[in-house]
Amino acid sequence: MSYLEATNDLYKQAALTPDVGLCCTTNPVWQLPGLSIPTIMQEMNYGCGSTVSASDLVNEPKVLYVGVGGGMELLQFAYFSRQVGGVTGVDVVDEMLEACRKNFKVAEKENPWFKSDFVELVKGDALNLPIESESIDVAAQNCLFNIFKTEDLKKAIGEMYRVLKPHGRLVMSDPVCEQHMNEALRNDDRLRAQCLSGSIPIRDYVKMLTDAGFGTIEIRARKSYRVLSPNHYPTDELIHIESIEIAAIKDPMPEDGPCVFTGKTAIYFGGEPYLDDKKGHVLLQNQPLAVCDKTAAALAQLSDEIHISESTWHYDGGGCC
Ligand SMILES: C[S@@+](CC[C@H](N)C(=O)[O-])C[C@H]1O[C@@H](n2cnc3c(N)ncnc32)[C@H](O)[C@@H]1O
Repeated sequence: MSYLEATNDLYKQAALTPDVGLCCTTNPVWQLPGLSIPTIMQEMNYGCGSTVSASDLVNEPKVLYVGVGGGMELLQFAYFSRQVGGVTGVDVVDEMLEACRKNFKVAEKENPWFKSDFVELVKGDALNLPIESESIDVAAQNCLFNIFKTEDLKKAIGEMYRVLKPHGRLVMSDPVCEQHMNEALRNDDRLRAQCLSGSIPIRDYVKMLTDAGFGTIEIRARKSYRVLSPNHYPTDELIHIESIEIAAIKDPMPEDGPCVFTGKTAIYFGGEPYLDDKKGHVLLQNQPLAVCDKTAAALAQLSDEIHISESTWHYDGGGCC
């Protein structure tokens, strides 16, 4: 059985029998006016963070969500879009699509504003999406891509890039790991399917996104996720896994390379009212400006009267690169 078949099998079981601990996270359950998340959806929350952000969802975007799980994030996206077919959910596992469909019926009873047909559920594979090119404004996946091995991950990212409109955004939540994982962990299909042994370092993840053509990357959150300890897993050392929330925007690639925002801020503290780098960045004296890593490095070279903060891994907009 290939690792992809093992993955399908695991999520078939997780659809038939909810597994509360499968991908449990520290994210709070959403509290928004008029939004009730059914218990069954919470029990089937197989994500590792959130991909839903109101600021991505302006102007009635067409949303695609790949890897539906129990449907919780589809309901959250529908909360903002509220139109028939505004959200499309794709999953390769029939039983998961069926469970999600059933959960929407529960959600309809708890949320008078919600209609199941706000979300179109479609059988399909992240590696070959049944979606027209350049038809999507916001594409999302939560805790699926980390399962894929390198060549499949490239395909999955390439597919998301293909279906997005220009300037559309891919929003994701996924485990990442900065430590080396041994081959026993990497090749354990079940651990991989459980989102425990496929994750890669942030830098590699970002490179795969920018190699696919995404010109702007935002790292919006970084949290502790799991540990693989020698007493429970085939490893000699304790391995720390984190989860990140990341947006990749289909902006054209700047000539001097991608803009990657990791939460750095520049503050000019010289004697002039402002500093203009003549490349589009004007730093008012003692005012913070969110900058991408490329600009942070250039400003640090330009003047020793600019303070550049460390990455907070919590970029939530603003600034320029
Ligand atoms: C870890 S779960 C995450 C579910 C959901 N995103 C959430 O946050 O609760 C992975 C999901 O991806 C689906 N899946 C697995 N392999 C897939 C593939 N190749 N293409 C599309 N969906 C897939 C599984 O059926 C499952 O619904």
